[in-house]
Amino acid sequence: MTDARALRVTRPGGPEVLAVERVEVPSPGPGQVRVRVQACGINFIDVYQREGIYPVPTPFTPGVEGAGIVEAVGPDTDAPAVGTRVAQAMTLGFAAELALAPAAVLVPVPDEITSEQAAAAMLQGMTAHFLTTSTYAVQPGDAVLVHAAAGGVGQWLVQLCVAAGATVIATAGSPEKLAIARSLGASHTIDYTAYERPEQLAAAVREATGGTGVAVAYDGVGRSTFDASLASLRRRGLVVLFGGASGQVPPLDLQRLNAAGSVFVTRPTLAHHIADREELLWRAAAVFEAIALGRVRMQIGATYPLEEAAAAYRVLQGRQSTGKLVFQTAPASA
Ligand SMILES: NC(=O)c1ccc[n+]([C@@H]2O[C@H](COP(=O)([O-])OP(=O)(O)OC[C@H]3O[C@@H](n4cnc5c(N)ncnc54)[C@H](OP(=O)(O)O)[C@@H]3O)[C@@H](O)[C@H]2O)c1
Repeated sequence: MTDARALRVTRPGGPEVLAVERVEVPSPGPGQVRVRVQACGINFIDVYQREGIYPVPTPFTPGVEGAGIVEAVGPDTDAPAVGTRVAQAMTLGFAAELALAPAAVLVPVPDEITSEQAAAAMLQGMTAHFLTTSTYAVQPGDAVLVHAAAGGVGQWLVQLCVAAGATVIATAGSPEKLAIARSLGASHTIDYTAYERPEQLAAAVREATGGTGVAVAYDGVGRSTFDASLASLRRRGLVVLFGGASGQVPPLDLQRLNAAGSVFVTRPTLAHHIADREELLWRAAAVFEAIALGRVRMQIGATYPLEEAAAAYRVLQGRQSTGKLVFQTAPASA
């Protein structure tokens, strides 16, 4: 047993319920590894968990994405050796100096990738990877809609779709964010805050496709964009609803899928696309390779110490961030 600084969610609520405390970290049990965390990715799922939309018993240490060094390995554990640099996505508790994780969720980090890059890329990069390869395999010539295209997942989606030969129509909430989407290869950019009604936004998307509509709409914004996403599809197109940054989408009348052109809707999550060890290693390798070879530019928008967590989440929730936000988990004096 040892103790370490950790960010804590003391009760469900807004950023004000966050506090940095010293917590006891047990020795790793069978199948477990203790990681000295170097960087932790900040994600929208942290907000859902903190607010209780995805219920987690309080108090808890947030942070579902991180990278660091293996410090101790539990008994009977087939794990990377002590001293190996590793990263993970979807295991809670990495907004801390020390974290326990199942060995099975950890992937070794290649030398050419920094821990900050790994912590920034694992969740959003692998999400964009499964969305563009498995949820819908993007084809050359496809017209693809990406909402919040200057955000963390959004920037990855734009680049992976462009690399697959698609024409990307990107939305975002400011001229600066639209310029980022263009710089990453989006062919058309639309400020979705300029449209009051979903039909108006959908008409702008359709116009960018010559009237046909998009093959797939990647929608992580949710409540405020979903209706426009549905109305932007070509016949038999697909809305991939993968998050709700603006709020959750209300229950859907399935007859709307008929009326929209025999279209499809899915609501996938990363956990179901990395549960198999082989699949996890495939996606992580693809993400690391894309960064190392410069095929994907990953923008780390800002880094924060754990003590400034509330400010970091206000930036994320207040739509002020571009790219990825990251916690530096070591104390400032380290
Ligand atoms: N399903 C999965 O497995 C999975 C995995 C990772 C992430 N996600 C989801 O992907 C989405 C993006 O996550 P991220 O971490 O990359 O965040 P992000 O895109 O960097 O930040 C969210 C962005 O959403 C846009 N937005 C529109 N309306 C908003 C509102 N009312 N409040 C806040 N933001 C709003 C903002 O961009 P503009 O200013 O341009 O509008 C904002 O910057 C989230 O919904 C997240 O839950 C899902």
